[in-house]
Amino acid sequence: MLHTALCDLLEIEHPIIQGGMGPNDTTDLAIAVCRAGGLGTISSSGADRAGDAYENTRRRIQRVKAATDSTFAVNQVIKGIEAQDRIRAVVDERRDDPEVRRRLKVVITSGGNPAVVAPALRESGVLHIQVVPTVYHARKAVQCGCAAVVAEGYESGGHVAYEPVHTQVLVPAVVDAVSVPVIAAGGFADGRGLAAALALGAVGIQMGTRFYLSREASQDGGFAHPAVQGALFQARETDTLVVPGVYGPNRHWRNARGTELARLAAAGAPHEEIEHLKEEGLEAKLAGDLERAAVPIGMVVGRIDQPVAVAEIIARILADAEQTIARLQQHVGSPVV
Ligand SMILES: Cc1cc2nc3c(=O)[nH]c(=O)nc-3n(C[C@H](O)[C@H](O)[C@H](O)COP(=O)(O)O)c2cc1C
Repeated sequence: MLHTALCDLLEIEHPIIQGGMGPNDTTDLAIAVCRAGGLGTISSSGADRAGDAYENTRRRIQRVKAATDSTFAVNQVIKGIEAQDRIRAVVDERRDDPEVRRRLKVVITSGGNPAVVAPALRESGVLHIQVVPTVYHARKAVQCGCAAVVAEGYESGGHVAYEPVHTQVLVPAVVDAVSVPVIAAGGFADGRGLAAALALGAVGIQMGTRFYLSREASQDGGFAHPAVQGALFQARETDTLVVPGVYGPNRHWRNARGTELARLAAAGAPHEEIEHLKEEGLEAKLAGDLERAAVPIGMVVGRIDQPVAVAEIIARILADAEQTIARLQQHVGSPVV
């Protein structure tokens, strides 16, 4: 059984994190991931299409607590709308409910300066992990007291850095630069990827795209429309592009809307026009409108062609990673093949 320092740090069975996927409510997905032995993450940022951000976050935390026995996480984009309300919800839930205090073990922040939220998280006693796109940001996160960092390469879905550094270069560079555990993200979807991440010095992986394309993400009115998932299963690794976003660049599906957004950005169209189309695109995505949908997704979309259930995704990754590691050992001390 594959076991790493991440399993001990977060008290999880398998070194696999489901990353936050902001515009979507990932509470049910997080429950499925927790039940499968990974770290399920409640997405805060942007998930409140209706209702109060503070109350919604508290409700989501209670839902995951009630539905699982495992530890779990909340994700927050630091520059996101109502970010402070959601961080306050985490702090208050942990203060008021001993079971939440025990099991809501980590807040994974991204898209902003971790120093803004670090004092509140430290005082609450919750682990703080920051998503970082460069060595510079990794060092800053550690200075803020982060217990680990997610080194996220440019191939990942959703927000990406202004400076493109890909996973293969970023992960070992961050591992060499900081003393805390490093989780690799960007382009992972299978066991070979997990084995490669461990070889680069990471203690586990965080995935978004693979979980966006899971069975649970689309069933029972889930956030991923079946028609959108169906189209994405046909996508190739070249079918994403980077478009501008409120909190920085964003990797999207290269459909008609994605292409239009990139073209408008290149032509210097006003920010408001681009944001309006993106907002409309989020609605279209929920409605399954393949032309007008704006769909954040990673390059690894080109390697995923089926809506596999979360438990199976995780079990397969673990089994394949173990097999891969065993296979690689054959090369040690053998003649070159
Ligand atoms: C649809 C979507 C939305 C995302 N939204 C967020 C977010 O709100 N906050 C965040 O920290 N990361 C977000 N991410 C990034 C993921 O948490 C994860 O780090 C990333 O998807 C890893 O790369 P991969 O897509 O190649 O698996 C998002 C990713 C996707 C695909």
